[in-house]
Amino acid sequence: MSGPQTSAAPTGTPQSGAPQAPASPSSSVPAGTAAGSGVLLRASRVTKQFGGLVAVREIDFEIPEGSIVSLIGPNGAGKTTFFNVVAGIFEPTSGFVEFRGRRVIARPHRGWLEPVLWFVPAIIVAVIGLGYAFAVGSERVGLLTGIVALGLLIAMMLMAVIRSELYQRLLGWAGIFRSARPNDMARIGLGRTFQNIRLFQNMTALENVLVGMHTRLRASPLDALFATGRSRREEEAARRRASELLALVGLAGREDDLARNLPYGDQRRLELARALASEPSLLLLDEPTAGMNPRETTDLTALIARLRRDLGLTILLIEHDMRVVMGISDRVTVLDHGERIAEGTPDEVRRDPRVIEAYLGAPAE
Ligand SMILES: Nc1ncnc2c1ncn2[C@@H]1O[C@H](COP(=O)(O)OP(=O)(O)O)[C@@H](O)[C@H]1O
Ligand SMILES: [Mg+2]
Repeated sequence: MSGPQTSAAPTGTPQSGAPQAPASPSSSVPAGTAAGSGVLLRASRVTKQFGGLVAVREIDFEIPEGSIVSLIGPNGAGKTTFFNVVAGIFEPTSGFVEFRGRRVIARPHRGWLEPVLWFVPAIIVAVIGLGYAFAVGSERVGLLTGIVALGLLIAMMLMAVIRSELYQRLLGWAGIFRSARPNDMARIGLGRTFQNIRLFQNMTALENVLVGMHTRLRASPLDALFATGRSRREEEAARRRASELLALVGLAGREDDLARNLPYGDQRRLELARALASEPSLLLLDEPTAGMNPRETTDLTALIARLRRDLGLTILLIEHDMRVVMGISDRVTVLDHGERIAEGTPDEVRRDPRVIEAYLGAPAE
């Protein structure tokens, strides 16, 4: 796997100093944003096509650690599509996404080699073992070799299912690249909410948050089955944490309410709590204030700013209404018809004639 980008930075290495992205083809990446902090997520020339429709075209995008970055644009601009690429839901047509300097999303490379890899340890053992068995003329060694080889093959296949860290590294060594899937992205630290509320409507608020926690729980199904001390302790801690998260988003005391009985604004907050439950370092919010009244919008915007401060989160915010993002964003990127038409501080973007035009003269403040 060889990247054209120069960003071979190991995990967490600060990337600042040279604010211009070195290999950015359209070198319109603004200088001087979030100097001194590392880049948590970087998208390079991401394109996503649906049949003949190019929903997102060659987007370069950076999210500095600890920042609130917004993606705005009129309906159909490609915001949600970009989001879904970053979240591992859509494979990009071209381009790639790096998380903490590691390429996680791109078109797969040498995928066909992966099943071949499962046989490699078994074949090596078989060749050596059978060779030895022949040399010493031992049937027992031959049989043993067969059993070990079969075991290795099964082990490799199990590893492929679990996709452990070791297995992923093995794939890397073999030059095989498979794009991260949503669960992989959740595991490495990405939490998200959806443009349309997707709660478990017949579960309580607390249960919804607990579901969001499952990627972080350690107890195995066996622990749960036998109700071991470990699983009980973990469950108690999870419930406590879920209550804390509900309080954090302003839903204290609503633990036992069914999601469907919560008012709309509170359902949005519950989605936020569920996203936080996976302990993300990067939170993606897709139009979190959609359908809210001005009061709810102001409150939620304040909550988002507080989350960054209190939890040290990095936040990517998608918004249709640019007024929402102006107060809290460090940087704003504007998409229109799948293309990036402007990027800069909220003030720069607000005054940009192309942005004003894209919004058809909609009031930009
Ligand atoms: N799954 C899909 N299949 C086909 N076209 C899609 C799909 N998702 C989005 N699109 C199209 O891509 C374009 C961008 O949509 P979207 O990313 O939802 O925009 P936004 O979130 O900015 O409103 C639209 O023209 C939309 O119809
Ligand atoms: Mg959208």
